Amino acid sequence: MENIPQHIGFIMDGNGRWAKKRGMPRNFGHDRGAAVFKKTINWCRELGVKCATFYAFSTENWRRPPDEIKGIMDLLRRYLKDIRESADENIRIIILGDISPFDGDIREELTDIMRTSKDNTGFIVGIALNYGGRAEICRAAKTLAEKYSRGEITDITEELIGEYLYTSDMPPLDLVIRPSGEQRLSNFLIWQAAYAEFVFMDVLWPDFTKKDLEYAIREYAGRDRRFGGI
Ligand code: IPE
Ligand code: IPE
Ligand code: MG
Repeated sequence: MENIPQHIGFIMDGNGRWAKKRGMPRNFGHDRGAAVFKKTINWCRELGVKCATFYAFSTENWRRPPDEIKGIMDLLRRYLKDIRESADENIRIIILGDISPFDGDIREELTDIMRTSKDNTGFIVGIALNYGGRAEICRAAKTLAEKYSRGEITDITEELIGEYLYTSDMPPLDLVIRPSGEQRLSNFLIWQAAYAEFVFMDVLWPDFTKKDLEYAIREYAGRDRRFGGI
């Protein structure tokens, strides 16, 4: 395939509905979703994508019942081993979001995985955890305002804001894929998606396959990206 997106954002949505359809608890769907997350990384690599960012937990997802949140945190804890293995395969892991409210062991492991995989060049995996696009922009704005007041910078530009987002070391976001039938960003990479292409699909995330990914990439490849030009 030609015209492969360099950076794809995945909104891993539909886990709850997938489980409900099977008469299972929602966390069963999150479990299956996590398995698809792992497979999707490999499919992206096989297809020549350079970077993939996965929306795993939003700043708004704290509104969910405590047992579901606990289930997601337990799942994350179990998945840290897999994430670590990816880091050992020359994959760089970047966590997007404020992980300070997470338990100490999860926080330390994530921080260490990010640190030790920093120079890996094979592929970049972004994992958005307690991530919100508005919070991300707010954080960049605060940092830049402080620098401005100290006289370290004399202007606030789009480039500078971009440097203070979690995605600063990633290629530009080309494509956002959202399964589950919902057609919204839900606060995912709102700055970065300014000129991204969107592919919304009805498949629920736990059922997402390599064929679905290929379909989305083909769809992307057929789009005319004008970036405001003609
Ligand atoms: C996405 O699946 C996973 C998270 C938000 C953690 P959902 O849990 O939102 O699944 P639906 O949308 O309720 O089916
Ligand atoms: C977006 O899904 C967040 C993640 C996939 C982590 P949600 O299920 O939370 O989004 P809404 O509530 O349908 O907009
Ligand atoms: Mg959802």
